[in-house]
Amino acid sequence: MAVELLQSRWHAVRAGGGSAALNRRLYECIRDCIMDGSLPVGGRLPASRDLAAGLGLSRNTVTFAYDQLRAEGYLRAVVGSGTFVTDVIPETPLHAMRSRPMPAAQRGARLSARGKAAVAYARAAPRQWGAFMPGVPDVTLFPHRKLGRIIARLRRQAGPELLSYAPGGGHGVLQRSLAQYLRQARSVVCEPEQIIVTEGVHQAIDLIVRLLADVGDTAWVEEPGYWGIRSVLAINGIVPQPVLVDNEGMRLPAPGRKPPRLAFVTPSHQYPLGPVMSMARRLGLLARAGQSGTWIVEDDYDSEFRFNGQPVPSLQGMAPDGRVIYVGTFSKTLYPGLRTAYMVVPRALADTFKTAQSEFYRGGHLLSQLALAEFIDQGYYASHIRRMRQVYAGRRNFLLDQIRRWLGLEWVHEYDTGAGLHLVLRLPEGCDDHAVEQAAFEHNVLVRALSRYYIGPRRQSGLLMGFASVPEAEMLRCFQILLGVLRGAMAPSRAAR
Ligand SMILES: Cc1ncc(COP(=O)(O)O)c(C=O)c1O
Repeated sequence: MAVELLQSRWHAVRAGGGSAALNRRLYECIRDCIMDGSLPVGGRLPASRDLAAGLGLSRNTVTFAYDQLRAEGYLRAVVGSGTFVTDVIPETPLHAMRSRPMPAAQRGARLSARGKAAVAYARAAPRQWGAFMPGVPDVTLFPHRKLGRIIARLRRQAGPELLSYAPGGGHGVLQRSLAQYLRQARSVVCEPEQIIVTEGVHQAIDLIVRLLADVGDTAWVEEPGYWGIRSVLAINGIVPQPVLVDNEGMRLPAPGRKPPRLAFVTPSHQYPLGPVMSMARRLGLLARAGQSGTWIVEDDYDSEFRFNGQPVPSLQGMAPDGRVIYVGTFSKTLYPGLRTAYMVVPRALADTFKTAQSEFYRGGHLLSQLALAEFIDQGYYASHIRRMRQVYAGRRNFLLDQIRRWLGLEWVHEYDTGAGLHLVLRLPEGCDDHAVEQAAFEHNVLVRALSRYYIGPRRQSGLLMGFASVPEAEMLRCFQILLGVLRGAMAPSRAAR
């Protein structure tokens, strides 16, 4: 009886999405059942093993929820008889606001179609820091003092205009510094007027999609590819068309009846698998875009970190007056919480983008943009990147050594090109990467399942492993935990040798 009740409530919780850890969500689900009386006072809860089987969860997840509820006084354990709802429910739950039972009228709140699409596509990880969270730079090594000193001085001097809204695509000084940096470091051909500073890549993409595509239009996205782009497309009613990636990047589909409005690519370092887009594919994509009026969006999110040879030049630089919008971010080179990214738009569109940006988001942060410009102009940006490149190269090699020693280098995805902040471990066919991700999460090891990054049904099983933010000692410890999880997930003969 209680198992069935909890199954149906848990089903609703899972369908509603949410980013909290499973054990936390289960704890809240059971607590809500107690608070609204569905689980009556004195009622007996299923044994943790039975509930775990009934809900398709690990026993650890259920045990965590039970332990927490016992600690907070909702449940009591009777040795030899089981776990029961206590007679006296805590009057003031620890988290008073969150613990109140949900009013029935709010439970079925109807979301808009856009809202539903956004929730259905949600992929952001519940935790963003820890081994081996992919895509995360080592924020502890950022020279906060240097940037802090610049900010403090600017704060003392700040005139009113620095504290106001930011029309015009961002602070002119940062636009100038970025244009120079992008010309030199990324071979982007641009003038400062073409630069739009945004609060992250998501905002840049949102602006592009809203201005250049209509509801029902299609967009090519890499398969597998960055989930964040798909979320923005879903919210805006654009239909993503997954296009498979191989060792030369996106495989251009045969020309169709209706070309896409937009094509999203990561040519310098395909996300998440890692190949560099070949020259033939670059030229092919540029030619197709020219013929069909498709806008190419080049997401150049982490190309500063290439560990062998020179950085790969941008696609935009190959067709400066073509149909490429270049997008870059400080999230990987500095830190993600800065929420600062930028795009280079074709000259003919620059004013429109600035007007729309101001109308949609009413941006600000001029003071921190000016501080960033100084940080770049004084050479701190370039030297931080140089230093981090060395640190990340060392950590990547260390992780590769672990993989070589315990699994074999054939486990590293064959498209890896020695760049970025993560690598992809391929799992043997039939190994459920979601289950591995979840089991590792329960041991505080954060890997992401490769299958999450696909739209279509053909999915490779694998794990994204970030190495940039993980010092060697921590890597050693967490890699052993992950090995244990992998051994548990596979037939013994296929696990670590
Ligand atoms: C491919 C790719 N593009 C863009 C981003 C996000 O950039 P931002 O933090 O500026 O939104 C990420 C973040 O992980 C990414 O992996």
